[in-house]
Amino acid sequence: MNETVKNILERRSVRSYMSVLPPEDDVALIVECGRFAATALGRQPWFFSVVYDRALLDDITAECKAAAIRSEGEQAGLNFPDTFRGAPMAVIVSADDTERFAEADSANATQNMAVAAWSMGIGSCYIASFRRAFEGERAQEFKTRLGLPLGFSPRFALALGYAASPLPPRKERVEDRVEIIK
Ligand SMILES: Cc1cc2nc3c(=O)[nH]c(=O)nc-3n(C[C@H](O)[C@H](O)[C@H](O)COP(=O)(O)O)c2cc1C
Repeated sequence: MNETVKNILERRSVRSYMSVLPPEDDVALIVECGRFAATALGRQPWFFSVVYDRALLDDITAECKAAAIRSEGEQAGLNFPDTFRGAPMAVIVSADDTERFAEADSANATQNMAVAAWSMGIGSCYIASFRRAFEGERAQEFKTRLGLPLGFSPRFALALGYAASPLPPRKERVEDRVEIIK
């Protein structure tokens, strides 16, 4: 089995991290792999915010928690998990709101980065739940702190770091979803 296939098949989401940061050169290469993902019409409508500022990730988590309490009540705030799963850093992929396939393009970049990270021995977790923080009154503050161009919104994040504990068993793949038509 070649290394690319092996990394795709073996990649897992990591939800418990050591505090040590991955080297900046490795992170830059991971982001480069994101930038080389396929995009509709080759338009690359994305923006990558490489967030080493853990306080910003904490603030986004706090706003996610506040939003959960606002819509679902106090109970929703109890034992609220860190939105970035305790990772020491994250890359947030945003995209131009006017681009028709912005969501798919951003997803492609995020998955490329996740596989690249895994191949380099760096754990990651694909995150969408953080978007809740961008639905309330702190949205513009967070967009500014992420350095986003006007008209761009966050789509996905990739938490990055080194796994702190063994990964749970992988879910079985859903069967009967492939049809060979000849
Ligand atoms: C679009 C998308 C959004 C996701 N959002 C979250 C999230 O907010 N939090 C989280 O812990 N995992 C999130 N995940 C990770 C999935 O839960 C994970 O990929 C899935 O359970 C399969 O596990 P694996 O990645 O180890 O194969 C997301 C994955 C995708 C593709």
